[in-house]
Amino acid sequence: MSKQVLNFAAGPAALPREVLAKAQSELLDYAGSGISVMELSHRSKEFEGLLNRAIADVKTLLNVPDNYKILFLQGGGSTQFAQVALNLLGAKEGNSADYLVTGTWSLKAYEEAKRYGTINLAFPLPANKKYVTVPPQSEWKLNPAASYVYYCANETVDGVEFDFVPETNGVPLVCDMSSNILSRPVDVAKYGLIFAGAQKNVGPSGVTLVIIRSDLLDVKQHPATPIMLGYKLMAENNSLYNTPPTFAIYICGLVFEHLKALGGIAEMNARNDRKSQALYAAIDNSNGFFTSPVVPAYRSRMNVPFRIRGGDDALENKFLKEAEAQNMIQLKGHRSVGGIRASIYNAISEDNVTQLVAFMNKFLAANNA
Ligand SMILES: Cc1ncc(COP(=O)(O)O)c(C=O)c1O
Repeated sequence: MSKQVLNFAAGPAALPREVLAKAQSELLDYAGSGISVMELSHRSKEFEGLLNRAIADVKTLLNVPDNYKILFLQGGGSTQFAQVALNLLGAKEGNSADYLVTGTWSLKAYEEAKRYGTINLAFPLPANKKYVTVPPQSEWKLNPAASYVYYCANETVDGVEFDFVPETNGVPLVCDMSSNILSRPVDVAKYGLIFAGAQKNVGPSGVTLVIIRSDLLDVKQHPATPIMLGYKLMAENNSLYNTPPTFAIYICGLVFEHLKALGGIAEMNARNDRKSQALYAAIDNSNGFFTSPVVPAYRSRMNVPFRIRGGDDALENKFLKEAEAQNMIQLKGHRSVGGIRASIYNAISEDNVTQLVAFMNKFLAANNA
C-alpha cells in the first residue's frame, strides 16, 4: 500500500483510487482479450464496446437529451477555444459571437476566437485584471444576432463559478465546463455545446469531452477549419475518424462507472456542497488570517483560492511547505495569481477536506501571533 497523499492539484488532478486500482488489475489483460487496453485496436469490438458504454454512461449521468452527440476529442480545452469558433461562428451572417469573460480561461477563449470572427465582450474586462465576480445579467450587452454566447462555468485559476445558467433568448449557449462538469446537475437542454478537458473531474489528460446539439453540426464551418477540427466529421465517425486517445477514454469510462455506483451526480453535488462549505467556513472564520478574494455568491465549489494575511508570501510558502510535510500536495496557487489554491474535485473526499481544514486551523493557531 503506497503512502496516503492528498493531491489538491487543479489538473491533472486526483483520480478515484478505486478507478486506478481497477485499471491496474486489467492493465495486462483487458476483459479476457489477453492484451492491454493500450494495445487494442480502436476498430476492435472491445474498444467500440467500451467507447459506447462511456457515451451511454455520460448520457445517463448528465441526463443528456437524445438530440445531443457525445464526442471524445484531442487537443485539450485549449483546442476547443478555436474549434468552437471555427465551427459555430458561421451560424449567422455576421460571424459574430458574444463572450462572457469572467477569468483566465474565458479570456483565452475570447482571444482565440477573435482570430476567426467578430467577437464582442458582453461586459468590460475588470480594470485591475482581477476576476472576482460575475456582473449581473441586467448589465450584459448580448447581440440577438450573435451565432452563440460563450462562457466558462468555473474559472479554475480565479475560483469564480456561475451559480446560474445565462439566459440567451434562443442564441446557442456554449460552455467550458472543464473544471466543474460532473460536480453538479446540469440542464443540458439549455446548451448548444458543452466541452470539458478531462484532466480535472473526468479522467486523465489527453481527451476532451464534448456534448453538442445535433443541429449545430450543420453550421457552415470557417473555410480554414482543419479536417480534424470538424465536429460533424467526428460525430459521423463516433470520435473514431483517426486514432483516439484510447487509454484515456477507457479511464474516463471507469470514472463514469464509479460515479454511477456512488449515486451519480446528485450524490456528488451534495458532497461538493458540504466539502466547499467546510473549506470556506475555515477561511471565513479565521478573522482575516485566511481570505478568499471572490465575491461569496460566485465562489467556486471546485477550486478554492485563498491568501494568508492578505498575501504574505513568506507565510504562504511556510504553509505550503508544512502542508507538503503532512502529505498535502499541489496547494500552490496558479502562477498568475499566487497564494494558495485547493482544488477539491469529485475524487477529493469529505474526509480529505476535513484533514485540510484541521491543518489550516492548526497553522492559524501557530502563526496568528
Ligand atoms: C476551465 C479551463 N478551460 C480550459 C483549460 C485548458 O485546458 P487544456 O490544458 O486541456 O488545454 C483549463 C486548464 O486548466 C481550464 O481550467
